[in-house]
Parts: sequence; structure tokens; C-alpha cells
Amino acid sequence: MRTIFWEDGVKLIDQTRLPDELTILHCRNVEELTDAIKRLAIRGAPALEAAGAYGITLAAHEKNFGSVEEAMEHIKRRAELLASTRPTAVNLFRGINRVLNVAIKAGSVKELRELTLKEAEAIAEEDIQRNKLIGSFGAKLLEDGDSILTICNTGSLATVEWGTALGVIRSAVQEGKNIRVFACETRPLNQGSRLTVWELMNDGIDVTLIADSMAGIVMQKGMVDKVIAGADRIVRDGVFNKIGTYTLAVLAKEHGLPFFIAAPVTTFDWEKSGKDVTIEERSREELLYCHVKCRQSLIAPENTKVFNPAFDFTPLEYVTALITERGVVFPPYSENVPKILK
Ligand code: MRU
Repeated sequence: MRTIFWEDGVKLIDQTRLPDELTILHCRNVEELTDAIKRLAIRGAPALEAAGAYGITLAAHEKNFGSVEEAMEHIKRRAELLASTRPTAVNLFRGINRVLNVAIKAGSVKELRELTLKEAEAIAEEDIQRNKLIGSFGAKLLEDGDSILTICNTGSLATVEWGTALGVIRSAVQEGKNIRVFACETRPLNQGSRLTVWELMNDGIDVTLIADSMAGIVMQKGMVDKVIAGADRIVRDGVFNKIGTYTLAVLAKEHGLPFFIAAPVTTFDWEKSGKDVTIEERSREELLYCHVKCRQSLIAPENTKVFNPAFDFTPLEYVTALITERGVVFPPYSENVPKILK
């Protein structure tokens, strides 16, 4: 099932409601879509690329514009609003800018609407295709009987369909390999337990949930063969991904386990380094309450001081290989990444 699509506006699976309910959220204007992005109703770097792209299309449909110039002014303001939602995943900005670059070529409002929709649909379709490629390149790195540790959700829900790190696991299973998955719950928003476990169980893939703090013991006991995670931005000296990824990378190195990152080339921001990227900090409520959805149940004193970064930075020396739709890239990354980005 597609995570996000166009049907009289932007429709997306509301990920805040999973695994309780599978519901579709209909965003009829950019404000509704930006709210959905901020609340993580739609999330995951490649899904955010599609959301940004469809967001520009939505802006082109929001009003009865008198001229294409007026429409472009409006779209540019909406683009700024969309871009202000989440700072870390570079894919969001790529989706917005790619559709904006097409929009400026339109000679009429009608053409503007057609062109932006066509480009957003192309981005969404490309995402599905590249995830399948990531999956088939990555599946070659997995052996029959492997046990894989993963974090956050990098599956269909984090993309338009199929997934990056989970896509690799899906492709390996589709090839007939017997794969077992350990899913870190991924506090505080539990993308691992709510979304990854839900997706893998739906696919009939063997998955075991662990609390994030259990990653060390499963490695120490030899229960894990490889670690695969996704990425929100890959810069020339490291990878930004869900908080807890760095811990897994350090643990994997200590235990001599391969640590792979699976991501499309739109996640690379190779001109930048770790210090150039903003790590999103989210609300204290995410840590103070048992679930942001039901604010009744405190799990820390109300006035607790909180630090809640959504992502962390893993230096590239911890990464065994980067799995992309153009192939698997091994170190030295400074030489090999530019070759695939060409
Ligand atoms: O805060 P989220 O849920 O958007 O974070 C998502 C992640 O960190 C994913 O690992 C990353 O976007 C890659 S998804 C294919």
C-alpha cells in the first residue's frame, strides 16, 4: 500500500494512529499537510521528499489565482512553510525544490497545476523504483539465516512504498532467504515498535521487538549478524539518522558486526559536513508522557528538564557500506561516493 498519494489533495496513511488503526488522512491544503509532517503523521526521509513535492502541487491548487505570477508568489510562500517543518532530512527540501523548478516553467495556472502534479507523481514513482533497487543490491549482502538489527521505521511507511533498510530485508526474504529481524522500539515516538513491527508482521517476516537499551545484549549474546539502518542525510563525514543509530554503530564495531546504511542518492548532501546540519529537537512532552497521543499518563515529573534530539550523527568510519539504488558503496567514501553521485 502506498504511504502517500494524490487524490483531490494529498492523502497519506496517518502514522500517528498505527498500529491501532490504519486510517487515511486527507490534506486539502498546505497547512494541513505541514501539520501532518510536524506531528509525524507522515515521516521518514523519502516519504518526506514525496510530501514536499505533493505539497507544492497542493499549493498550486489552493486558490483561484488570477494569474500564473500570483500563483507562483503563493507557491513560494507555501514552499517556505513546508521547508520549515523538519530540518534534518534533506529529501524534504529536494522534493520541494524539484517541483518548484518545474513550476517556474508554467505559462498558465492550468499548466502550473498539471506540471507540478506530474513532477510530484514522477518523484513518488521514482521512489518506489529506487527502493526496489536498493533492496536488490542490499539483499546480496544478507545471507540465508541472518539475524538483522534495525532501528526506527525504514519500510513502506517511511518511503512511498517498499522501504530502504526494511526494503533490503523485504527483498532478501522475497529472494527466499530466511531472515530474522530485531526491531529497536525507537523511543520516544516508537517508530520501531509501532510501525516496523506492524509492517514486518503484516508481511509475515520474523520480527522480535527489543527496547533500545537491549541492543548491546543481543549483540553480546550473538543473536545479531548485521545491523541495517536508514538515513536522513548523508554528508561527507557521516550519517544523520534516528536517535540511537550512533549507539548501534559503536556497539556493532565493538562486536565486529557489519553496520550498513541504506538510502537513495537524494539523501546525500555530500558538499556538507556534520557541523552544517541542524538536528531537530522535539518537544519535551514526547519524553514526559507515555504517548503524545494520550497526555494523561506522566512517566517523568512534570517539570523535568528534557533533551530530545530526534537524530544523531554517525561518523562514516563506523559504516561498513552504503546501500544505494546505484549500487553498494564501500570505503574509501571520499573517493567512491562522488562516483555514484555523478
Ligand atoms: O523522525 P522520523 O521518524 O522521520 O525519522 C526517520 C528516520 O530516522 C529514518 O531512519 C530515515 O528517515 C530513513 S527512512 C527510509
